Amino acid sequence: MYTAPEKILAQGVSDAVKALYGLDADPASIVSSATRKEFEGNLTVMVFPFVKAARKAPEAVGNEIGQWLVENVPAVSRFNVVKGFLNIVIAPSFWTGVLAGIEKTEHFGHKPDTDASPLVMVEYSSPNTNKPLHLGHLRNILLGYSLSQILAACGNRVVKTNIVNDRGIHICKSMLAWQKWFDGRTPESAHVKGDHLVGDCYVAFDKHFKEEVKKLMAENPGMDEEQAKAASPLMQEAREMLLKWEARDPEVRALWERMNRWVYDGFDETYKRMGVGFDKIYYESDTYLEGKEKVLEGLEKGVLYRREDGSVWADLRNDGLDEKLLLRKDGTSVYMTQDIGTAKLRFRDYPIDKMIYVVGNEQNYHFQVLSILLDRLGFSWGKDLVHFSYGMVELPEGKMKSREGTVVDADDLMAKMVETAAEVSEQLGKLDGLSEAERADIAEIVGLGALKYFLLKVDPRKNITFNPKESIDFNGNTGPFIQYTYARIRSVLRRAAEAGFAGGDYSAVEPGEKESDLIQRLADYPAVLAEAGRTYSPALVANYVYDLVKQYNQFYHDCPILKEENAGVRSLRLAISDATARIVADGMQLLGIRVPERM
Ligand code: ARG
Repeated sequence: MYTAPEKILAQGVSDAVKALYGLDADPASIVSSATRKEFEGNLTVMVFPFVKAARKAPEAVGNEIGQWLVENVPAVSRFNVVKGFLNIVIAPSFWTGVLAGIEKTEHFGHKPDTDASPLVMVEYSSPNTNKPLHLGHLRNILLGYSLSQILAACGNRVVKTNIVNDRGIHICKSMLAWQKWFDGRTPESAHVKGDHLVGDCYVAFDKHFKEEVKKLMAENPGMDEEQAKAASPLMQEAREMLLKWEARDPEVRALWERMNRWVYDGFDETYKRMGVGFDKIYYESDTYLEGKEKVLEGLEKGVLYRREDGSVWADLRNDGLDEKLLLRKDGTSVYMTQDIGTAKLRFRDYPIDKMIYVVGNEQNYHFQVLSILLDRLGFSWGKDLVHFSYGMVELPEGKMKSREGTVVDADDLMAKMVETAAEVSEQLGKLDGLSEAERADIAEIVGLGALKYFLLKVDPRKNITFNPKESIDFNGNTGPFIQYTYARIRSVLRRAAEAGFAGGDYSAVEPGEKESDLIQRLADYPAVLAEAGRTYSPALVANYVYDLVKQYNQFYHDCPILKEENAGVRSLRLAISDATARIVADGMQLLGIRVPERM
């Protein structure tokens, strides 16, 4: 069984202060951190909490506890005290035991879930159906997916979900454009992905609409843009179509279903290439009426109110917010209404303990309001819902505008990344001797790895400029650098196996400083995962993996492995290499990134 050195130390210190000062200190409350570079040691404990009970100066307390630990805890070999900080040197022999523990644990650092684990639902992607996924969605989806993976690794039961906003005026615009200007074109006949075709329709609507507005203004002097937009026959037609949709007009519904199907087939392809998925997908067309019902229920209970014109509102002024419209005077629902309905269906399907919405920071206010509304409407998790709010992504060229068709399309970008990865490997000549299919697979792994890692390594709250060139660099904090190191380790391990070196005994070996330090870094992994789960931060996992890989490369540079003559030392180094590869692969897998066996 693997016990983290921090845990052993915490127990030791707890025992020490009991023995020395008769003090009861809960081991869980004794926290240690990595010793600062300028001092000797692996772990450092603060002794200030014990000074009062000891009635001695911090230095003296540190010395007494340190001495006690050396005498009673085999893992502790030496110590030094700096002010009130007790720096502990862990015995080298202890680290080989830690390494053996890591090697024996199947999913090192993961906590298994039980029936009593919290049920966490994570919503991500949540597209509209009038256009294909873009770069912003990529960040959203990668964050949501990796967050789900991390939370599951931390022992939660996780449900990955998606809400598709599949109804409303925007979809009607695409439908109308298709009827008018697309000559019955289908994804099959045009050889395009369905979501792209529907997106083209949306762009076409906007183009014609703008022309119409311009023309109206030219023909009617004195008409301003707002008036022209209101008078636009195209917009009127779109609105009429929405009314027909609401009235379940069979023809409109049939077209809507047909075009949405195209879109979903397109989305599925994109998700598949990204390597992500969902446990349960919700559709606004199923949830918005539930939302209406729930709002009317709230009206009855008196937590919402109706205005004279018939519209329904929530008064959130006591919460420091505005008044919020929930049903228009004609009874139609708004964006917020469908979120209430979606919440209702989700809770009916799953006894959610925690709900996490991965949605861009332009909707911060929306989720503040939603949280209060759900709470008032009786959702136990409403008040503590998490809006996982992330920043924008742009390309170096600048802003994206979906209506003008200048967005960075997710499919195009992925294809471009894979292409670039193939070119880079070609130039480096690293894949000579591999089959066409093997090369293609590696390009896929590296191209997408570069993209994903670049988007995930940053604090989610920050805006990013995605730079394709920088992301695919084989050096520095990039996906390919990590993947490359992984492939290198795997190659060493393969050669070791061929030479008959695998699985040797290293239990009697005293690891050197470089080796101990690297094992300590490996042993940090469970704490990093726990912290990443607690703070909802895939970036922590990403940067841990990078630091690990950097440290491994230094070790690899300094310590011979296959050339090492001493069989025990060689076995130790191979075991360290193997554990590093496994943890790198695991961390990357939590980020949704594959690692190649060769590269
Ligand atoms: N479909 C929306 C959009 O594209 C985002 C939905 C976010 N999720 C939610 N539960 N409101 O802006």
